[in-house]
Amino acid sequence: MEHTEEHSSLREHRAPLEEDQAPLKELDEWDDFVAIRYRQGKSEEEFRNYKADANPTVTEFYRQNHKYQTLDFVLKKKAEYCGLNREKKSIWEMAEYLNTLVDDSDPDTDVTQIEHLLQTAEAIRKDGHPRWFILAGFLHDLGKVLCLYGEPQWAVVGDTFPAGCAYSDQVVFPEFFAANPDSGKPEYQTQYGIYERNCGLGKVHLSFGHDEYIFRVTQKYLPEEARYMLRYHSFYAAHRHGAYRHLMNEHDEAMFEWVRKFNPYDLYSKGRERPNTKEILPYYQGLVSEFFPDKIDW
Ligand SMILES: [Fe+2]
Ligand SMILES: [Fe+2]
Repeated sequence: MEHTEEHSSLREHRAPLEEDQAPLKELDEWDDFVAIRYRQGKSEEEFRNYKADANPTVTEFYRQNHKYQTLDFVLKKKAEYCGLNREKKSIWEMAEYLNTLVDDSDPDTDVTQIEHLLQTAEAIRKDGHPRWFILAGFLHDLGKVLCLYGEPQWAVVGDTFPAGCAYSDQVVFPEFFAANPDSGKPEYQTQYGIYERNCGLGKVHLSFGHDEYIFRVTQKYLPEEARYMLRYHSFYAAHRHGAYRHLMNEHDEAMFEWVRKFNPYDLYSKGRERPNTKEILPYYQGLVSEFFPDKIDW
C-alpha cells in the first residue's frame, strides 16, 4: 500500500496506536511478574528492587498502563462496560470463552485460564474456607475477557491505582505517571484530588481493568467480602503497602483483611500441580449454581 501523507496523519489521530496494544507476549506475563515481585521469603530490600524482576516487555506494559489510564479513560470504560448491557451468558460460557485466550509460548507447561481459576479455588478449598471464598477464587480473573472484547492489555491487567488524585510512589514504576495527561492537571494532583478525605473506596475510580469488571458482573450475587476480593485484588499499593489509606474509610479497612487473605492464593497457586479438571468440575458446577442463575448480564 502506498504511504501517503493522509495516512500518517490518520495514524497519529488513532490513539492508542496498534503497536501500543499488546507489549506482553501473553496476559499472564503480568501475573507472573507480580508473583515474582512478592515471592515468598523475599526481603524488603529485594522487594524494593522490583525492577530487576521486570523484563523489557513488562516494563513497557507498565509504561503504557500508567500513561493511558487517565480519569477520563476510566470513566469512559465504566460507562461502556459497567451497565452490563453487552450480553447474557452463564459463568461457564464465559469461562470457556476466556479459555480461548491461549498462551502460545509453551502450551505444555502453561496452565489455561480455567486451570488458573481452578487452582486458586482449590487452594482456598483445601484450607477449609467458606464456599463463597472458594467461589471468589474461581471467579477472580474472569474479567480478563475484556481482552477478548478488544481492549488493550494495559486496560485489562496491571496493578490498579486511583485516578483523579496524586499518585503514590508505592505503585510500581511511579516515574511512568509523568507521561499521563492527568499529571498536568493540578486539580488531580493534590493528595485528595477530586475525592474527600476517607470518602471510602466505593467513591474512588481505580484504573480500569479485569477487577472492576468482574466485580460489577457478580456483585448482586456475592457476599461483600467476596466483592472486595474481586474488586481490589490488583490494588497492591493499598493491600500490600498501605498506600491510599486517606481515601479509605473504616469499613474498607475492615474488608481489606479479606483482600489480604485472598492474595496469597492468587499469587502462589500457580506453581501447584495441574488440577484434575474432570474430577473437580461437578463440585464447581454445584458451587456456581448455588450463587448464580443460569445466565447473567455481562
Ligand atoms: Fe487478577
Ligand atoms: Fe489471578
